[in-house]
Amino acid sequence: MRHYAVSLAALGLLAFGWTAAASAATPVTQVTVDATRPGAPISRQIFGQFAEHLGTGIYGGIWVGKDSPIPNTRGIRNDVVAALKAIKVPNVRWPGGCFADEYHWEKGIGKGPRPVTLNSNWGGVIEPNTFGTDEYMDFLSQIGADAYVSANVGSSTPRETAEWLEYMTSEKETSLAQARRENGHPAPYAVHFLGIGNESWGCGGNMTPEHYTDEYRAFATYAKNYNPEQVGDKRMLKIASGANVDDYNWTEVFMKNKSGDVDGLSLHFYSGFENWPPYQPASGFDETEYAKVIKTALRMDELVTRHSAIMDKYDPEKKVALVVDEWGAWLKNEPGTNPGFLYQQNSQRDAVLAAVTINIFTRHADRVRMANIAQMINVLQAMILTDGDKMVLTPTYHVFKMYVPWQDATFIPVTYDAGTYSHGGVTLPRVDIAAAKAKDGKIYVSITNIDPTQPLEIDLSTLGLKAKSASGQTLTAPKIDSINTFDKPDTVTPKAISATAKNGGLVLKVTPESVTVVSLD
Ligand code: AHR
Repeated sequence: MRHYAVSLAALGLLAFGWTAAASAATPVTQVTVDATRPGAPISRQIFGQFAEHLGTGIYGGIWVGKDSPIPNTRGIRNDVVAALKAIKVPNVRWPGGCFADEYHWEKGIGKGPRPVTLNSNWGGVIEPNTFGTDEYMDFLSQIGADAYVSANVGSSTPRETAEWLEYMTSEKETSLAQARRENGHPAPYAVHFLGIGNESWGCGGNMTPEHYTDEYRAFATYAKNYNPEQVGDKRMLKIASGANVDDYNWTEVFMKNKSGDVDGLSLHFYSGFENWPPYQPASGFDETEYAKVIKTALRMDELVTRHSAIMDKYDPEKKVALVVDEWGAWLKNEPGTNPGFLYQQNSQRDAVLAAVTINIFTRHADRVRMANIAQMINVLQAMILTDGDKMVLTPTYHVFKMYVPWQDATFIPVTYDAGTYSHGGVTLPRVDIAAAKAKDGKIYVSITNIDPTQPLEIDLSTLGLKAKSASGQTLTAPKIDSINTFDKPDTVTPKAISATAKNGGLVLKVTPESVTVVSLD
């Protein structure tokens, strides 16, 4: 492997916390992007979001009410809508999570005062039911996302789900469709995805996989979408509650005994901890904690590979998608916040974690056709943090924005020797690289320099296309635990980057612990 001597000062890297100790020789990674062998389509739905009635994820984060001084449209905050439109959110999973299996949709509709209930899962706080089905659908139409509704299996019946769907999707003169019209929505809503239960092995009913599979069959039988436009390719897809992390038996039992009426099986995996409860601080951590958290995130590849292998046995045509509808870092809640609200900061480490996880999904694009990061606003690994009228975009948000061209792109194989980075007994690949051909016809390459101590030189060659230059954005930070705050919102923001032609290829220098996405021209 060649090494080029590059002065850190020349690269402007001396300001980076840990780079001062880095070697003067920048490691070089040879990368070949092979456009002659395109792979599976990368569904835009892998960039889905999750919004649960939890902490300030909904109330405060999305919903401020029509009379709020915070600028809003029908109660939904305008700043958040604008930010989410910019990352082209494909779908939003709602209302939970654990909350979904205690949710009764009728309490969340109507113009009069709505019943006030308890949110027993998340802090035992009051649930005003002000944000219900119609507000959710309004929010989706404002940001341009598809609906992913989670039905209550654990504490309800197939009848409640059936009636909810009738309310949302029927165009006939039924009482429920009439109630929707009276609530201001004459046309049926589109329900693109229906989740049948959530974590049915735990907060969703503590079921065995055998019992859940039977429940699924009954719920799916009566879960009918009446929207006349939702037929053929547009039909509502039904997603079963799947495994917790490495519970391969759950996947085995469900796939073996499922009915034909299933389009997706979920998987939930949170990174950032090995044993419950999560203990890693979201900021103010050291290099060892950085390495440990990224190591846990990389486990996603093994989980997806092994669950997919089981699914392949029963579904070789890959009709059933693996839907990773809860993923992300679950860290210690911010000091002084309600532990039941799961409010955590979001650092450059989260950006690296998001990029390597998205790359894993793209490598399994044939089976992983949907995913939802947990959660969209103010909860766990969020895109956005709010406090009253203030809003800040997190490093994770910026990664999602940089990956917009990957939505509905085509996987392109990349070969490279990742090398290794070791610290504190943890060894990781030094770099993670993925590529895709976007709908605009361009090839995009994503380079995540996992190593927080050294910059990296990427020596890029291509097969099947002639690239003369490359340009895009790089997300770097002064330190691995750098965060964006309401006072300093631009500490971690993408900057322009370009590659130069060299020896018939392209050379690009990326900083430590950075995420870079470039398009080849
Ligand atoms: O995302 C927070 C919680 O994590 C969800 O409610 C639940 O499904 C999971 O355990």
